[in-house]
Amino acid sequence: MSDDIRAFVFDAYGTLLDVNAAVKRNMSSFGDTGEAVAAMWRSRQLEYSWTRMLMGRYADFWTLTEEALSFALRTFKLDQDKSLKERLLKSYFVLDAHPDAREALTRLKDSEVRISVLSNGTNPMVRAALEAGGLLELIDDVLTVDELKIYKPDPRVYQYACDTLNVKPNEVVFVSSNSWDLAGASSFGFRVARINRSGAAREYEFARLHSEHRSLVELATLV
Ligand code: 2OP
Repeated sequence: MSDDIRAFVFDAYGTLLDVNAAVKRNMSSFGDTGEAVAAMWRSRQLEYSWTRMLMGRYADFWTLTEEALSFALRTFKLDQDKSLKERLLKSYFVLDAHPDAREALTRLKDSEVRISVLSNGTNPMVRAALEAGGLLELIDDVLTVDELKIYKPDPRVYQYACDTLNVKPNEVVFVSSNSWDLAGASSFGFRVARINRSGAAREYEFARLHSEHRSLVELATLV
């Protein structure tokens, strides 16, 4: 690993945590619509974060998660079953970690570089899920936007990580599976590592990617 790297900063949802896990755990309630519900839930959750920010109507990420789920369940006519929404939200609060996350963080921890999370999620939801996945004990800092009340990819969020960790942008490797987040982090000045488990196509081509990996373990093995 290059000597001037002082911190690995990880995105949470989609990167360390499996955003589809809540639906997967409740699959018997969905039949063959499970994947579509999970995809709509995630896409609206993200969309609401950016549209609300532009409107000057910030609400925290847990509220957006709930609003997005209500929309997805209404769309698929699954909103009659009130207990389904509660079960899904309960599962989302303690989402599963991706299977490669613990091994990767354990390896990085051995290299003694600082390991942080920078997420749009609220501090309670991110910490609860990281703890449930056995990751919290491997992470030095859990940074969230609760006090800033703005969302990634606004550059002020990445700056907040630099200020809090007392590092310069080019001393950070920012790790994410979300292309919009990688583009924001790279534009800000972080070195960025894409975790592309599904072999998804490249997008945001204007933004430099410093490396791309099929898993978190592959990233951790190479550094
Ligand atoms: C995050 O954890 C929402 O994936 C995004 O910041």
